[in-house]
Amino acid sequence: MKESILIKGVRFLDGRVSYVLTKNGAERKIEGEGWLAVPGFIDLHTHIREQGIGTETLQTATSAAKAGGFTTLCMMPNTVPPIDSVQRLRELKQKIIERALVSVLPIPSIAIGMGDSELADIEGFAKEGVFAISDDGHTIYNLSLLREACLEAKRLGLLVILHAEEDGKEPEAIEKRIELAYQTGVRLHIAHISTKDGVGLVREAKKSRIDVTCEATPHHFTLTENDIRDTNFKVNPRLKSYKDREAIREGLADGTIDIIATDHAPHTKEAKECGWNVAAPGMVGLETCLGLVWTELVHKGILREKEAIEKLVTNPAKMIGSKVDETNLILIDPEKEWIVNPLDFKSEGKNTPFSGRRLKGMVVYCCSIA
Ligand code: NCD
Repeated sequence: MKESILIKGVRFLDGRVSYVLTKNGAERKIEGEGWLAVPGFIDLHTHIREQGIGTETLQTATSAAKAGGFTTLCMMPNTVPPIDSVQRLRELKQKIIERALVSVLPIPSIAIGMGDSELADIEGFAKEGVFAISDDGHTIYNLSLLREACLEAKRLGLLVILHAEEDGKEPEAIEKRIELAYQTGVRLHIAHISTKDGVGLVREAKKSRIDVTCEATPHHFTLTENDIRDTNFKVNPRLKSYKDREAIREGLADGTIDIIATDHAPHTKEAKECGWNVAAPGMVGLETCLGLVWTELVHKGILREKEAIEKLVTNPAKMIGSKVDETNLILIDPEKEWIVNPLDFKSEGKNTPFSGRRLKGMVVYCCSIA
């Protein structure tokens, strides 16, 4: 039996005002006055551990995704062992079919062992239908290897997503990688941009028509180094100055920064409850993303609703080479105030710097239309 759910008063960005959802079960009515219906978000940067470092499984990560309004996760390769061979990619794809609750797109590693010396079978990955390769989690410093990877990716039509930090320094690393994109013509995407100079470099590259895009995370457009209280604030790239945070907000507003991605990086309590120098870098982000985007960007007038949705759906969809899936609708209550409590997270990772923070904007429904 089909369930009809009439949701009254919901706004669509294109002006429609009510919607009927159909799912299995009984008939239901939801009062959705002021809610916004948008396609499910696409996260271009998720660490779904499934195995190895940190915590989390495909099941818990994709439950967290649904709670946060994400219907597609792009999975970074730094699992243990890493996604660095066609065999591992195939095994992972099988697990995704069996266990994932939302769409999961694996992004394999550029190098074998996530190392710095030997290129992985990029052509083999392309034949398996991936849209991108990456070094996220272990920056490749070896520029000749990166050049080879870029040429191969260009030939195969793949996006190259680079971590672009060398010894914690970002602008120089971005500059070198943009130069590679210029020389090879590959589509380059810079992950989690965090500095004013980095944003400036991407802005200039775009003016010069180099094929480069970049992302910002909610923590980098919300926090600065002055907010750091404990190891839940330790992340790569590290939190920066007020000036850097403002530059990220400007970059989001003027379109230099194309997308918002979470860099969701769950870690165990043990990996975080230790000294700063030994604590694992990374924070969870799937379940606080929408709240931070609305609280920090939309309600403060930095992005309009439509622009926020472009950064969470339309632009990442272009990067993964897919159409926006109108059947994966989510509902947002933009005015709903709530306080972040990591114990409520579906993610196994509770490592958030936003515990206790009041946010305005919440995902109230995440569903597929039958
Ligand atoms: C990432 C993780 O934990 O996988 N952590 C992070 O701080 N972003 C890996 C990384 O990019 O360092």
